[in-house]
Amino acid sequence: MYNFSFQNPTKLIFGEGQIAKIATSIPKDEKVLVIYGGGSIKKNGVYEQVSAALAEHSWSEFGGIEPNPGFHTCLNALEHIKANGSTFLLAVGGGSVADATKFIAGAACFDGDPLTILTEGARVHQALPLGVVLTLPATGSESNPNGVVTRYETQDKMPFYSRALYPQFAILDPTVTYSLPNKQVANGIVDAFVHTVEQYLTFPVGADLQDRFAEGILRTLIDHGPKALSEPKNYNVRANVMWSATMALNGLIGLGVPQDWSTHFIGHELTALHGMDHAQTLAVILPAMMAEQREQKREKLLQYGREVWNLEHGTEDERIERAIDETRAFFEALGVSTCLEDYGVTETHIPEIIAALKKHNLTALGEHKDITPEVSEAVLRRCL
Ligand code: NZQ
Ligand code: ZN
Repeated sequence: MYNFSFQNPTKLIFGEGQIAKIATSIPKDEKVLVIYGGGSIKKNGVYEQVSAALAEHSWSEFGGIEPNPGFHTCLNALEHIKANGSTFLLAVGGGSVADATKFIAGAACFDGDPLTILTEGARVHQALPLGVVLTLPATGSESNPNGVVTRYETQDKMPFYSRALYPQFAILDPTVTYSLPNKQVANGIVDAFVHTVEQYLTFPVGADLQDRFAEGILRTLIDHGPKALSEPKNYNVRANVMWSATMALNGLIGLGVPQDWSTHFIGHELTALHGMDHAQTLAVILPAMMAEQREQKREKLLQYGREVWNLEHGTEDERIERAIDETRAFFEALGVSTCLEDYGVTETHIPEIIAALKKHNLTALGEHKDITPEVSEAVLRRCL
């Protein structure tokens, strides 16, 4: 196991009815800005619960954060903060709202052009304090220091990171996920699954506990994911999915192990260039990446097959093939296609995707840094 240090400062408040805890989680003298997306929170009762919890606070609101949040929308929020003197940001929504809120929180305290946080990785040392009311279990953004913001005019989807951007608290009420459309439920399950795989499916370093954590999350998502679609009001199912998604990317399972975020990086280019949902890109690329890297990932693929899919019989190569097939079938059963052409992306688009990877210096990906543009191209060809 590699060396590591770990400190996740986000307080997690889990369960039905917990949105009311906002009242005591934000000091009364803060001027709160509630940030939300396209309006789902005004249809499912979440906005009312947040308003009631903030009854004794001074607060204003900023809506309209789009899925794959846009840089210019974030700049508009900064104007609102200046005009209203907001001192505390409360994100109410999915990963897009949480990510945008983190960017806004950092940009509000940033000395310089906020674009450089995205384009040059300029350091964010300070940020406005923020909290999250999560409405879509998927990204883990509610308790990690990461975000992704898109600059639409240049089709760049760019990640950023700062320890100053950990939310102070995150409220996880599984009942608010009842109103999610099936497509978003499925997207969330795929995203959490792939986050887990990208911290697990590399090569063994003797980190047995992290492996058991990861396998536990994957098995829980396999058990409960399909039920979240067929039994949408099953609290226990929703609770297990929500907790799995948070645990998949709050830092814990990635401690002391090699990681491989190649599927995510290639996926971001597909979203930026072709507008595919984040999880759709992952469902397409992950099985192809497993197949392309099967020799480098051999030991872990066998372990994954055994511990996650109960594959005991057949030759090693047969078990690896089955493990990849099971992964693809799981995504398809959730209704997320694993074929690139189903999203209107064809062979003719591959060169521009590769060019975008090069433009973003994503030319040595994976746990061995051996996923060159040529390998990424081979992966994309497997996705057609
Ligand atoms: O905008 P509203 O009207 O709220 O509707 C949203 C949106 O249309 C809707 N929704 C959310 N909660 C709902 C709901 N509809 C009904 N009932 C509810 N309870 O769902 C749609 C999608 O929301 P979005 O926030 O975009 O989805 P998700 O949570 O999957 O976030 C995706 C974004 O997160 C980034 C992705 O790249 C993408 O930009 N990621 C962030 C990560 C991080 N910060 O660590 C890691 C991830 O790998 C990912 O890259
Ligand atoms: Zn993701």
